[in-house]
Amino acid sequence: MRIARSFAELRTFLPAFRTAPLCLVPTMGALHEGHGALVDRGKDEGGLVAVSIFVNPLQFGPTEDLARYPRTPEQDIAFLEKRGADLLFLPRPEEIVPPDATITVNPGPVGTLYCGASRPGHFEGVLTIVLKLFHLLNPDLAIFGEKDRQQLFLIRKMARDLGLSVRVTGHPTVRESDGLALSSRNRYLSPDERTRAALFPHIMNAVGRKWEETPPKTSGEILALRTDLETRLSREGFVVDYVAFADPDTFMEVSLPPPRKVVLLAAVFLGKTRLIDNITLESGISRV
Ligand code: PAF
Repeated sequence: MRIARSFAELRTFLPAFRTAPLCLVPTMGALHEGHGALVDRGKDEGGLVAVSIFVNPLQFGPTEDLARYPRTPEQDIAFLEKRGADLLFLPRPEEIVPPDATITVNPGPVGTLYCGASRPGHFEGVLTIVLKLFHLLNPDLAIFGEKDRQQLFLIRKMARDLGLSVRVTGHPTVRESDGLALSSRNRYLSPDERTRAALFPHIMNAVGRKWEETPPKTSGEILALRTDLETRLSREGFVVDYVAFADPDTFMEVSLPPPRKVVLLAAVFLGKTRLIDNITLESGISRV
């Protein structure tokens, strides 16, 4: 695996990779099996796989966990070597975000909903850095985890709205055996919180099943399902940040009559740790 630590090194290495389609997996490091699955997916697509690791300060709010966000470059390099990645881009923060940079990408209305409402400026920071990575590496394909479903929607929309040639693909969320979605932030959980965290996807699934079995017909019924989800989560000690039912095509809150497919999104706090998850609901099918 080649490691490029600057734009200049990237420019030196990239021509050798242009002989085959290039797939980019952007990450913030602290790599886990979820990232591993994205690398595997890139390899399955047949080309060369580049991974970027950059803890992007632009997507953290002033009171968020930027300083304590896990940074494990040595383990990440070993992980990627073993996984068969072809190129690692590990830029220096000052190079990728110049201190006097003022130009950013506006994510539009969906950028202010859900995670964007609780983390103002978050998606502007994400899109700005992702666009920069696309520009620097010029990949044919980019793969993102579906756990960050709103992020995936906005990156796809950016690619479409700005006419980028990269194909943006989502990959299903990888979960622990008890159902908890893998996340670099799971390592913040105490053993007790970690056990409790598995209830988060289970409770979402339980309420999701109710939607699938009897899709709501009125806004009152949608509200009742949201309240049910919030109540069940609070009862188990989660502090609910938001729960929402979104239309997968627009990512706006569903309107009536609801579409056949709906994304149930939620974010909760368990102690100081913020967890997010989402599931796709499909009315008229039975979930196992
Ligand atoms: O999903 C992430 O890890 C980050 O938001 C991303 C896409 C690498 C941008 O910093």
